[in-house]
Amino acid sequence: MVDLSVKIGDVTMQNPVTPASGAFSWEYNDVIDLNRLGGLVAKTICREPRLGNPTPRMAETEAGIIQSIGLPGKGIEYFVDHIVPEYAKFKPPLIVSCSSDNIPEFALLTEELARVPDVDVIEANISCPTRNLTGQNFAMHEDYTRDAVTAIKAKCAGKPLWVKLSPNAGDIVSIALAAEAAGADCLVIANTFLSLKIRTDNFRPALGNKFGGLVSPALKPIVLRMVYQVAKQVKIPIIGIGGVTKAEDVVEYMLAGASAVGIGYAGFRNPTALVQIIDDLERWCDERGIKKITDLIGAVKDDDMEMDPLVAASHGV
Ligand SMILES: Cc1cc2nc3c(=O)[nH]c(=O)nc-3n(C[C@H](O)[C@H](O)[C@H](O)COP(=O)(O)O)c2cc1C
Repeated sequence: MVDLSVKIGDVTMQNPVTPASGAFSWEYNDVIDLNRLGGLVAKTICREPRLGNPTPRMAETEAGIIQSIGLPGKGIEYFVDHIVPEYAKFKPPLIVSCSSDNIPEFALLTEELARVPDVDVIEANISCPTRNLTGQNFAMHEDYTRDAVTAIKAKCAGKPLWVKLSPNAGDIVSIALAAEAAGADCLVIANTFLSLKIRTDNFRPALGNKFGGLVSPALKPIVLRMVYQVAKQVKIPIIGIGGVTKAEDVVEYMLAGASAVGIGYAGFRNPTALVQIIDDLERWCDERGIKKITDLIGAVKDDDMEMDPLVAASHGV
């Protein structure tokens, strides 16, 4: 039977399937066994309580949902006292996503989180597209990324720092290199695509925040391309997030260079999807005699395509 375990730096995960921040909570344990997951990823927290964005916060489009939740939450104290203990009941590593719109507060929040023994990993969400009306965030520019990640890393007290990047940046490879150089231990690629829907009945934007982030299976080919490009340039592990709905999507992300994946949308549609994908992944590997899932990481066969794409594309596997 295949060994599904993967290592993200010093963090060992029993399989490469994790939920994506914000599209998951410990309450999913009512329908799936959370101990089956590779990791538990908490919704992004901010230091102070936040109401989140004005409603409506979600709208459907033909291409998926656009959502603009706006990071509502009860702040760090409530999170540490009430939410961390809920996650600590389960075995997979706890990855805590955090965010701020200014570097001093981001660093302080990280320092406070790093002190909590049950927090295994700090995921810096420097890429939320709906925190403010403009869609701006640190991950849109390499200089802001470098400054934010440097300050956050200094407060991690030795805990691993994963940095979530934005697919809205013009050149995600430069941003990834900046995050790596500033001390990121892993790159999470990616957050949602900044989007807009306009109602034709009243001519107004469909979301209260105007812009939202698109989540959809349509993200996968685009984010997969980003993971592939970044993996060619960085040495740290990558977690691919965007449009994973089945085991073969996990395989694709790993072939492109990801060490693990995150799943949001598919778990919304069907909360049992995460466990189903783990089971299917195991079967997929066993049927092909794959002994270690880590053998898939970066194993895309494309060396010859640099030379002659037409000939290479005609090869079988
Ligand atoms: C309702 C909702 C809330 C989200 N909230 C967060 C969040 O708090 N922090 C974050 O980093 N990403 C958040 N995301 C983005 C997801 O983590 C993920 O990057 C995105 O949904 C793409 O993955 P998917 O195609 O599997 O859904 C949210 C997504 C959804 C659908």
